[in-house]
Amino acid sequence: MNIVLLGPPGAGKGTQAKRLIEKFAIPQVSTGDMLRAALKEGTPLGLEAKKYMDQGALVPDSVVIGLVKERIQKSDCDKGYMLDGFPRNVSQAGALDEMLTQLGQKIDDVVCIEVPNEELTARLTGRRTCRNCGAGYHVLFDPPKTENVCDRCGGELYQRDDDNVKTVSSRLQTYESQTKPLIDYYEKQGKIRRINGVGNMEGIFNLIAAALNR
Ligand code: AP5
Ligand code: MG
Ligand code: ZN
Repeated sequence: MNIVLLGPPGAGKGTQAKRLIEKFAIPQVSTGDMLRAALKEGTPLGLEAKKYMDQGALVPDSVVIGLVKERIQKSDCDKGYMLDGFPRNVSQAGALDEMLTQLGQKIDDVVCIEVPNEELTARLTGRRTCRNCGAGYHVLFDPPKTENVCDRCGGELYQRDDDNVKTVSSRLQTYESQTKPLIDYYEKQGKIRRINGVGNMEGIFNLIAAALNR
């Protein structure tokens, strides 16, 4: 099963992906996580990507399309995968369709998580992530038991460089102008499952799981 998780920054794509990949036993393929990993390793690709990420702009299509193409051909993707944050514009969606046709695959469902902008800003500016295991938290909505310490592994929590008010505002604009048109793109293919992303995380997970199990 090949799934796309679509939704604005802070909608809960990563939060829900972590739960869904356990239920469906497929890997999460997050282009944002892959770019941040490249940056952490200090690769030229990572350093180049940072310029765009810090501006809240999209990294060039050729870069992310190349990353995804390589990633989905790894053996752990044999039974499917959950794309998180890709595609992000119509040109990436077209490239994905083309790539999947070549591989004899297709996207089965596109889950679109919908959350209003005010809530998104609050979620992003309070997000914390474990440096060691990648677990996600929120200072108010999902706090760790001890401030800045991961419940799961004891690792240190950090705030993403692009989770400041200014960059968040650009990211939301980039979503509106470039990513939102994908809802229409996948609507035409009959693949969109719209999910109300406001409410408790478990309830939202159940809604998504039900939509995918239909
Ligand atoms: P990326 O890493 O994909 O970031 P994003 O799309 O902006 O989305 P986020 O990861 O910020 O949000 P999320 O939906 O995963 O929310 P989360 O679950 O963490 O991309 C970063 C950058 O990389 C881009 O700006 C771009 O530059 C580049 N990039 C990536 N992919 C690209 C591509 N394909 N093409 C070009 N460039 C690309 O939740 C957020 C917070 O809310 C957490 O604190 C969480 O605890 C909390 N939360 C979650 N659910 C709830 C809930 N139900 N109630 C209350 N709080 C909640
Ligand atoms: Mg994410
Ligand atoms: Zn951790």
